[in-house]
Amino acid sequence: MEPARDAGATFVDTTLTDHTYALVPTLTGTISYIKNFTQDQDVAAVMPSSSFLVRRVCKWIDFDEPATIVEYGPGNGVFSEYIAEHMTADSTLILVETNAEFVEMLEEKYADDDRVFVVQDRAECVEQILADHDLDEVDYIVSGIPFSFLDEETRIELLETTHDVLVDDGKFLVYQYYNHLEEPLREHFAEVTKEREYLNVPPTIRAYEACK
Ligand SMILES: C[S@@+](CC[C@H](N)C(=O)[O-])C[C@H]1O[C@@H](n2cnc3c(N)ncnc32)[C@H](O)[C@@H]1O
Repeated sequence: MEPARDAGATFVDTTLTDHTYALVPTLTGTISYIKNFTQDQDVAAVMPSSSFLVRRVCKWIDFDEPATIVEYGPGNGVFSEYIAEHMTADSTLILVETNAEFVEMLEEKYADDDRVFVVQDRAECVEQILADHDLDEVDYIVSGIPFSFLDEETRIELLETTHDVLVDDGKFLVYQYYNHLEEPLREHFAEVTKEREYLNVPPTIRAYEACK
């Protein structure tokens, strides 16, 4: 079986089970996370998300239709890679990342893909970022940023802005280590589905599909 490409995993032995290879992060991916984690508290992870988490979250995206997708906090791009591989040729993906080293890696990776835009900025500036790309609404926002690091006011403002920039049937797809987002998500979005992913470091990460 041809394993899916994954920026955070190594696939040296295709005889390994899907479960085994998808949980083994590459040395370079993990080193870049550990290095950035020690220098930048917003990185908030010592290795990229597993491909199990990526697939759990991305199954909520309809890749058959053209879409405008924003990703908050792509890191080294495990989600971005899956999304870019699956989205249609006329879709757009905007990656919003604060960490300069991850931004550089993403810019290199997507230099030849004119559907993907890398922006070094904070998710909190999403409205301005969209305006800079002549957009005012998007179909999906995928987020891996540590919402728990934001103060209460900023967290709620970001949820409100995220809700406002989504199209009427848009979705906010978010994964977090703690359950602190469920209540505010339910307050801001019409329908929220919660799942857990155990095959990830750390395990039992929460994934939410919040529908506008
Ligand atoms: C937990 S890591 C997740 C990385 C990647 N999405 C993954 O799943 O492996 C969080 C990422 O969000 C970035 N980040 C943190 N706060 C941010 C913010 N306010 N706006 C944009 N990016 C942010 C960090 O630099 C880091 O790359």
